[in-house]
Amino acid sequence: MSGRAPVTLPRLAEMKAAGEPISMVTAYDYPSARVAEEAGVDMVLVGDTAAMVVLGYPGTEPVSMDEMVMLGRAVRRGLETPLMVGDMPMGSYEASNELAVHSAQRLVKETGCQVVKLEAGGTSVERARAIIRSGIPVMGHVGLTPQTATALGGYKTQGKTAQGAVKLCEDALALQSVGCFAIVFEAVPAAITETIVERLEVPTIGIGAGPATAGQVLVFHDLLGITTGRVPKFVKRYADVHAAMVDGVRQFVDEVRSGHFPAADHVYGVEPSELAEFKHYLDQESLTSQKAWDWEPLS
Ligand code: KIV
Repeated sequence: MSGRAPVTLPRLAEMKAAGEPISMVTAYDYPSARVAEEAGVDMVLVGDTAAMVVLGYPGTEPVSMDEMVMLGRAVRRGLETPLMVGDMPMGSYEASNELAVHSAQRLVKETGCQVVKLEAGGTSVERARAIIRSGIPVMGHVGLTPQTATALGGYKTQGKTAQGAVKLCEDALALQSVGCFAIVFEAVPAAITETIVERLEVPTIGIGAGPATAGQVLVFHDLLGITTGRVPKFVKRYADVHAAMVDGVRQFVDEVRSGHFPAADHVYGVEPSELAEFKHYLDQESLTSQKAWDWEPLS
């Protein structure tokens, strides 16, 4: 047990009011959830970035609801205190309010997440309203919304023009007006974020959006250096876990090849009398599978 009180929606609002920064990380399995729990984060997002960082898809679009449910269930088993956010995958909410409510209920019922997140754009405000009316709290997401990155011109900073910033501000205000309890700002110039968050009452969580948001989120695999290759400018690496993992597995391979593994510490012993009896049997008999099956100890 962590000894911390579970993080609730009122607690998040309180943190924002008190200027106490909110921390959020993604998690996609039991071990990453345990790390988030033990590190004391406030919110854990089972993000659809899972598509890229753990399932190896080129974008977030292909990940299915079934896949998100499987990952979410594992995360739930590792969490005690952070608020767990389930990300609604592309295709699970856009088409109708009924679909959105059904999908949100499925995420909550089957994974145990307490709230859901959906990406803004198009019909999302209506969908968020419907889900909130059904009793499930919703986190909005504005700026760079990876599910619709193609329509946005790629994985690019959003709100860089006055017109773009107005649109972003309108999206955020609309999500707040339908009752979203928090809003993620992704890849937005810091000064634009600052100007918008001053006009919002709900907590905002930034990723590549500067320091003005009430909290910050990073993708688990990015911040720990589990992902390799190019990462967005806003990622700060706090560890190089990929290198440590490759190094560990390489040492294992080397030791298997050189015969240094397993050593005495890693093997099970057997009573010498049992071993002797076994060897005696083998010396007496020519062992076949049938005989081994029939064999019974003499005493
Ligand atoms: O899916 C995700 O991980 C996200 C974060 C980048 C906020 O939406």
